[in-house]
Amino acid sequence: MTLDKNFLWGGATAANQTEGGVLEGGRKLANIDVLPFGEDRKKVASGDLEMMEWKQGYYYPAKEAIDMYHHYMEDIQLLAEMGFKVYRMSLSWSRIFPNGDDKEANEEGLKFYEDIFNELKRHGIQPLVTITHFDVPIHLVKEYGGWRNRKLIDFYTQYAETVLRRYQGLVKYWLTINEINILLHQPFVGGGIVFKEGENKEEIKYQAAHHQLLASALATKIAHDIDPENKVGCMLAGGSHYPYTCRPEDYQEAIKRDREGYFFIDVQARGKYPNYALKKFEREELTIQMEPEDKEILAASPVDFVTFSYYCSRTVSAHPEDYEQATGNLFASIKNKNLPSTEWGWQIDPLGLRNSLNQLYDRYQKPLFIVENGLGAIDIPDENGYVEDDYRIDYLKKHIQAFKDAVEIDGVELLGYTTWGCIDLIAASTGQMSKRYGFVYVDRDDEGNGTLKRSKKKSFNWYKQVIASNGELLD
Ligand code: BG6
Repeated sequence: MTLDKNFLWGGATAANQTEGGVLEGGRKLANIDVLPFGEDRKKVASGDLEMMEWKQGYYYPAKEAIDMYHHYMEDIQLLAEMGFKVYRMSLSWSRIFPNGDDKEANEEGLKFYEDIFNELKRHGIQPLVTITHFDVPIHLVKEYGGWRNRKLIDFYTQYAETVLRRYQGLVKYWLTINEINILLHQPFVGGGIVFKEGENKEEIKYQAAHHQLLASALATKIAHDIDPENKVGCMLAGGSHYPYTCRPEDYQEAIKRDREGYFFIDVQARGKYPNYALKKFEREELTIQMEPEDKEILAASPVDFVTFSYYCSRTVSAHPEDYEQATGNLFASIKNKNLPSTEWGWQIDPLGLRNSLNQLYDRYQKPLFIVENGLGAIDIPDENGYVEDDYRIDYLKKHIQAFKDAVEIDGVELLGYTTWGCIDLIAASTGQMSKRYGFVYVDRDDEGNGTLKRSKKKSFNWYKQVIASNGELLD
């Protein structure tokens, strides 16, 4: 058998893409709740269009999402039926600290997740908890400017400490911040940042990054102090860059683009800023405010394991204007003619997953965890909600084979695998419901119509068999 008997098989979701119940149980709005459906979504996500509350004339998919707030018992039951060993989920920050700077946590919010963890435990499913997955309480955005403000470190660590204490013994695996490098590409999503005219965006983004990196290190320390059994990971939006040609400058461009993401993980896993980043700050005259104690904070608490999402590889060139662009998971790249694409133009590359695993393992020498991977596709259900999703099975099968090769042939240390959107949910980039990833179909459309009924797709039983055989039976 290739994989360890304790290999953690499962699936992943995020609060803002599943829960709904946005104003229930004492919860208040977060940045992510005000991302509208439609063409303004991108501008809001990038921090170029201010949106601080729900406005007339817009549809906000996160408002109800798939209403997991009221369906979680049924949903966990389905995950358990597939034999999940782990369920990656996130906590909604504003469900626990509705304003973010509250003195006391919201008991109803804390209790909600406690019930979920107890239910998971009853089914023998280990939670893998992301403390923040693209969410910042909107009050912290309005009042403090989001993560550009150093005060966010205190608000985040208070929140982290609260949940780490409360769920001690129920949760062992923690991720501090989802896809931390997204901050550079979608600053409002990744950091609750809205830009003002004429601001130095690069400087603000890296200042916010500094705050997040400190907050992540402090949360790691708190987690270890509370319970030495806790394992804390960082999380990268992964997918390495290929040079479009073997021209040295294209290869150099690929290294540079990889480093935009590695920058964060270099700090979180190695405990210090890489020289190439310090040189960049100097060269581009970015003034990043750092306090004397910061170096020590970062050095004291590197993460225990490294996690990443993987959907596609990316292709770059020093001369991008010469080529056709492909869309990708939030980053633009050149279309790689050697690879097929999804309906959303993301390029399917299973071997790229093995390559990424090797690059990350070579670089950090820490256990890895693939916490997102999957195919966003249009599903056509029959009258019972059954979907014959062979395309999804095919995608997942190839990616599972790729990570098995990384373990068996290359010796990469891999803790587990959670497919993205194990139950259909709203897409982060577009807000669409029609971009589905799940083993479980949810009856809801892009406009918010539908019964929310859950039904099993063909991939449901397929994944169940994959888990039961510990990845040996892929056909
Ligand atoms: C990752 C995020 O970027 O990719 C998820 O962590 C997101 O929140 C996933 O849903 C897939 O992207 P999309 O846009 O298809 O939902």
